Amino acid sequence: MAFLQLQALCKRYGAVDAVVATDLSVEQGEFVSLLGPSGCGKTTTLQMIAGFVDVSGGRILLDGRDITHAKPASRGLGVVFQSYALFPHMTVRDNVAFGLKMRKVAAAEIERRVSRVLQLVRLDQHAQRYPRELSGGQRQRVALARALVIEPPVLLLDEPLSNLDANLREEMQFEIRRIQREVGITTLMVTHDQAEALSISDRVVVMQAGRITQIDEPYKLYEHPRTEFISGFVGKANLLRGDRDEHGAAQVRHQPGQGVLTLSLRPEKIDLVPAGDGRLQGRIVTRYFLGSQWLYRVETPIGDITVVRRNDGDAPMNEGTVVGLEWPSELLRVLSADEVSA
Ligand SMILES: Nc1ncnc2c1ncn2[C@@H]1O[C@H](COP(=O)(O)OP(=O)(O)OP(=O)(O)O)[C@@H](O)[C@H]1O
Ligand SMILES: [Mg+2]
Repeated sequence: MAFLQLQALCKRYGAVDAVVATDLSVEQGEFVSLLGPSGCGKTTTLQMIAGFVDVSGGRILLDGRDITHAKPASRGLGVVFQSYALFPHMTVRDNVAFGLKMRKVAAAEIERRVSRVLQLVRLDQHAQRYPRELSGGQRQRVALARALVIEPPVLLLDEPLSNLDANLREEMQFEIRRIQREVGITTLMVTHDQAEALSISDRVVVMQAGRITQIDEPYKLYEHPRTEFISGFVGKANLLRGDRDEHGAAQVRHQPGQGVLTLSLRPEKIDLVPAGDGRLQGRIVTRYFLGSQWLYRVETPIGDITVVRRNDGDAPMNEGTVVGLEWPSELLRVLSADEVSA
């Protein structure tokens, strides 16, 4: 049986269905992300697991135990909220030790565990500082240390990196993953950042309007998005009309307005070839420099198509250039209609 199980979990706020009949199983030691647009019910789901929001229906099982109506403290979960309130008048060390003191852990044991966890989040040099003397990323790590030190069976993280700049954010993603692996802690993280979800999770749960619409490993989710919404929310996608050839393989229709299928084609799967070659002809209207890649917008008879090419150090294609577009047809993904509006 899975370590953490949500069974038909629901939350209604008056007329608002914040979370609808949600089923989810998380294995011990697994890192699972809840990904979805603003208001889709991510925080509400996490808060029900933490016990800070009452459920309207369904059950929550932890290690086989029904904790649906248990008091938050008795669940013993580690929680890091989006706004991580540290105690301003306490040092880093005292902030981290607080939870253990409340649990009446012996002083020597507190000393040992706090030192270890501060090392883990690489803050041992800053143990005597106050929160106001720390950067945003360091404060975030104190919040993480505070949750980790109680050695909870499950760590719940709600947008733990949302206040950090891009570089620090990436560094902290590695850090969280490293710590999570090292401690082997089962982790459920909420994020609306698809790159973040893809980069650090074992599995990603996509939520829309209170419902789970896809659960997959990051690579599978990116390569095989189920619906139009998911293909656009998880990475960039070109949506094309198409149908199946006589062998049942998906193909793009080159006449506007034709084709019964919606197909998704990732921008990096498309190659730019000399005009006259390829499956489709177009003209580069804009290009953007992304550092490691170039992004081209190409005007074609079936609409604008986004193409991403690796920056191999050579000069990029110029705007205005007429080009051919080529792609492996087996990388066209057939999408299902969205069953919920996000
Ligand atoms: N206390 C509340 N009372 C009434 N409605 C609420 C309450 N809390 C949340 N909601 C509603 O429930 C829905 C889900 O909210 P939730 O906070 O779970 O979204 P979220 O996915 O975490 O969004 P975000 O990415 O913006 O944080 C929203 O429509 C929200 O307005
Ligand atoms: Mg939220």
